[in-house]
Amino acid sequence: MVGTGLPEERATSTPKRKAEHLRINLEEDVSAKGVTTGFENFRFVPRALPQIDLSQVSTQTELFGRTLGAPVFISCMTGGVAEAQAINIQLAQTAQHFRLAVGLGSGRVLLEHPEVLPTFDIRPYAPDCLIFGNLGAIQLNKGVTVDQCRGLIDLLRADALVLHLNALQEALQPEGDTEFAGLLEKIEQLCRQIDVPVIAKEVGWGIAPDDVRALIDAGVAAVDVAGAGGTSWSEVERHRMNGAVRGRAAAAFADWGLPTAEAVRLARRAAPDATIFASGGIRSGMDVAKALALGANMVGSAGPFLRAAAQGGRVSYQLAEEYIDVLRTTMFCVGADTVEAFRRNPRITPPASRGVDISISQLDFDTPTTDFVDITDTVASAVDASGIRNGFAQIYSQHTTAAIRINENEPLLMADFKRLLDRLSPGDGAYDHDQLELRVGIGPDEPRNGQAHCQHLLLSSSESVPVIDGRLSLGRWQRIFLVELDAPRRRQVTVEVVGI
Ligand SMILES: Cc1cc2nc3c(=O)[nH]c(=O)nc-3n(C[C@H](O)[C@H](O)[C@H](O)COP(=O)(O)O)c2cc1C
Repeated sequence: MVGTGLPEERATSTPKRKAEHLRINLEEDVSAKGVTTGFENFRFVPRALPQIDLSQVSTQTELFGRTLGAPVFISCMTGGVAEAQAINIQLAQTAQHFRLAVGLGSGRVLLEHPEVLPTFDIRPYAPDCLIFGNLGAIQLNKGVTVDQCRGLIDLLRADALVLHLNALQEALQPEGDTEFAGLLEKIEQLCRQIDVPVIAKEVGWGIAPDDVRALIDAGVAAVDVAGAGGTSWSEVERHRMNGAVRGRAAAAFADWGLPTAEAVRLARRAAPDATIFASGGIRSGMDVAKALALGANMVGSAGPFLRAAAQGGRVSYQLAEEYIDVLRTTMFCVGADTVEAFRRNPRITPPASRGVDISISQLDFDTPTTDFVDITDTVASAVDASGIRNGFAQIYSQHTTAAIRINENEPLLMADFKRLLDRLSPGDGAYDHDQLELRVGIGPDEPRNGQAHCQHLLLSSSESVPVIDGRLSLGRWQRIFLVELDAPRRRQVTVEVVGI
């Protein structure tokens, strides 16, 4: 094995962690438990008469202006430790042979220790491939600058930068970075200033459609949903935990995440024109084909390529060959001679007898003094994220002095509403509820809010709105209001979406 240039004594905790990750991924069972990718629920509808020759079928595709042999990439994994170098070379050679795209592990260690470059430097082995550099997005909140990202891309001679989002992993790591506030804005700044495509990915728990859209709006060139059902990073971290309590905490997340098949379907729906990658639990050529049929432009696989590369170059070639071969055969059997035709007419059936889904979101609002707070957009986002296309949404206030009402958002009308409520239940009215001395079991800070309760009785705790084609079916002027009838405070509103 070629030297890393990183003397043992100078190794930081980052390389040590990377080495542990490699060992654990190769030696332990790190698969998600209790959650699957969901691809097993889908079936292709074959064509007995494909009306094309197998020899006509081409798996070639275009990405970022480059032609690839197949819409397949080896997802980001490693670099920075001695063991990584041979693995990265094998993966690069495999990618080059089949003209696939290939990702590298997080380049953070490279920013700190440029001398480990040889463990990442795969360009000589994959001269014609798209190479993805990689960095934890959280590093942008830890002081990594746009210039450093450019430097990383230059060092690696990479074609795109993958930013990974791994909030749960960071939360489980004793040394994790968990300051995620304001990260989207940093990603947006980076996308504006760097001149290679930026790809945002998860690490195996999925990116929900509201975040997909936020990332696309922030300017990323592609989103890799990297969903659940394959390598589970809570399981990986569980194997690193010394304390039993932390180990059990990690185990609690073994079935965490949005399954990959669902994540890619929802992402495509949320961002119809965006470039969407699917990864997380891709374990066969059939998974590749199903992910494409469900809306992905590119499909990635990590763990299987690591295990294959550890067994030698021939095994990783065979894995890539199987993925491409099964994809080509599937395309033939559904009558698609190009990837574009395959994606345009996917001939894939949804899960058999899909039952009614229920999605529940708890939304928090900080209300001002008695007022009508327009919460329509936040409710609409919750409905969107539910993935439910048709049914209804119930918007429910869990309070007796804050109501939910639908009406028009027109400032003068708001004043009319308030006057109406005050006429029916005036502020200077006599409310028994406010005679605290007559009540039992109340605390010293009990508010005198009889008026707010009585006004609430005139309104309602909830409204129901039809959901049609994934959207709240409100009339032209209708808006949903949280009506604060008491003092400013944090209010909880439940949005329950029921449908299919
Ligand atoms: C050993 C190993 C190291 C990884 N390191 C990174 C990394 O540095 N950056 C990253 O974005 N993802 C990393 N991943 C996550 C993968 O890219 C991928 O999202 C995840 O493993 C799920 O895909 P899979 O089920 O095909 O393994 C790593 C995965 C493995 C197996």
